[in-house]
Amino acid sequence: MKRFEMPGDLLLGYAPIDDDHRHLVALFNDMVSLPESASAGQFAARFEAFAGAFESHCTAEMEMLRGFDFPDTEAHAEHHADLIAQARKFGDAAKMRKYTGKMKEQFLRTAIWIFLEDAIGEDPKVKSFLMQKGLIEAHHD
Ligand SMILES: [Fe+2]
Ligand SMILES: [Fe+2]
Repeated sequence: MKRFEMPGDLLLGYAPIDDDHRHLVALFNDMVSLPESASAGQFAARFEAFAGAFESHCTAEMEMLRGFDFPDTEAHAEHHADLIAQARKFGDAAKMRKYTGKMKEQFLRTAIWIFLEDAIGEDPKVKSFLMQKGLIEAHHD
């Protein structure tokens, strides 16, 4: 699997969130870059770093949304909780077996899906909210 390049239209134009999202993509790419010869432990550790950063990101994002009186905060929190649960499940699986070849590919697809579900699935609603509030500009690239 190729390293994931963050598409520009995924950026909100709001630095605290964008920086976290970029950091998550970098941690994901650390996993992609591991050679096939890497041990299950090395792979699991990198996934752990990614999943841990994802959880911290969700917490920080929620604090921010609560501070802004974002209307759908609880729905967004539930979505995060779902994704965190999935990430933990994959983390447990990664500790138990070595992922190589097609299995590794599949694992990585799921891992990036967790990130994209947040960044594409829910965060665009945050983007429109921030725009309405005038906290970010409509055109930022
Ligand atoms: Fe989110
Ligand atoms: Fe996010």
